[in-house]
Amino acid sequence: MSKVHWKSTPLRPMSDEEFELWKALIEERVGITVDAARRSFFLTSLGLRMREIGLDDFGEYYARLQSAGWASEPEWSVLVDRLTVQETSFLRHQPSFDCVTEHLRELLRQPGLRQIQLWSVGCATGEEAYSLAMLTDELVLASGRRISWGVTASDVSRPALTRARQGIYGTRRLRALPPSWQQDYVDTLDEERGQIKAPLRDRLCFVQINVLDLKAVPLQDMDVIFCQNLLIYFRRFRKRDIVHQLIRRLAPGGLLVLGVNEMLDWRHDDVERVENRGVLAYRRRLAHP
Ligand SMILES: C[S@@+](CC[C@H](N)C(=O)[O-])C[C@H]1O[C@@H](n2cnc3c(N)ncnc32)[C@H](O)[C@@H]1O
Repeated sequence: MSKVHWKSTPLRPMSDEEFELWKALIEERVGITVDAARRSFFLTSLGLRMREIGLDDFGEYYARLQSAGWASEPEWSVLVDRLTVQETSFLRHQPSFDCVTEHLRELLRQPGLRQIQLWSVGCATGEEAYSLAMLTDELVLASGRRISWGVTASDVSRPALTRARQGIYGTRRLRALPPSWQQDYVDTLDEERGQIKAPLRDRLCFVQINVLDLKAVPLQDMDVIFCQNLLIYFRRFRKRDIVHQLIRRLAPGGLLVLGVNEMLDWRHDDVERVENRGVLAYRRRLAHP
């Protein structure tokens, strides 16, 4: 854990001009929009972080972040961690997971199938990715077929990824999983914590990816891309760019699951909407229309 240097001097207030500069910098590097309504949350989070690293001048912190790209300055991922709400849970939004189940069942009926690749984009502390892994493992085992499969899980926040890789969760959180999954996939550590069993953890690859940099990401031929509660942070044109990049990484027939209401009034020639009113999902067409 990093050493905390608490300073007692109060931070001076941030001027409107400074706030505009900060907003622009954060949006340019990580895409997150800090609107006026979130200004006080932003200032509190920024102030707490600055105290932790022994800074009391907004300008000094700004200069440090501005002088380096987000990828080369680890401080960026800590700051993003503080500026985003990393709320997540196992099997969050069950209808979306049911849609993945249906899709995988169909895939597993295809005779030539060799492998299944899934991607949890904006995985936070890993609950979403492990839920996808448990669901896939169960279906592959039930099919009786020898299929190689894996889940890539990405987030911009390094602290969140570190927690995700450990796969240690509170017992109350783990109770969201069906009892049979708790038994099959979780080791009890003590009364309050459990850890995802190693063979399942080994199926996951956690990587740091900023969704603004998807063009440079070599992932492709994904059978399922699951991206929920991430697009909410971005402006409309960025959401569209991100989703277009994700579509390019789907295998023909692959499934893209977004959060309900996260992408309205939008269509793309390469995908068709999955007929399911409770979810926002698209299937990549097998060939261009
Ligand atoms: C609310 S959590 C969603 C977690 C999970 N997908 C779910 O629905 O439960 C949003 C996540 O998006 C991540 N995030 C925010 N900006 C990002 C960016 N530019 N690139 C990648 N991930 C980002 C945050 O770090 C956070 O973990």
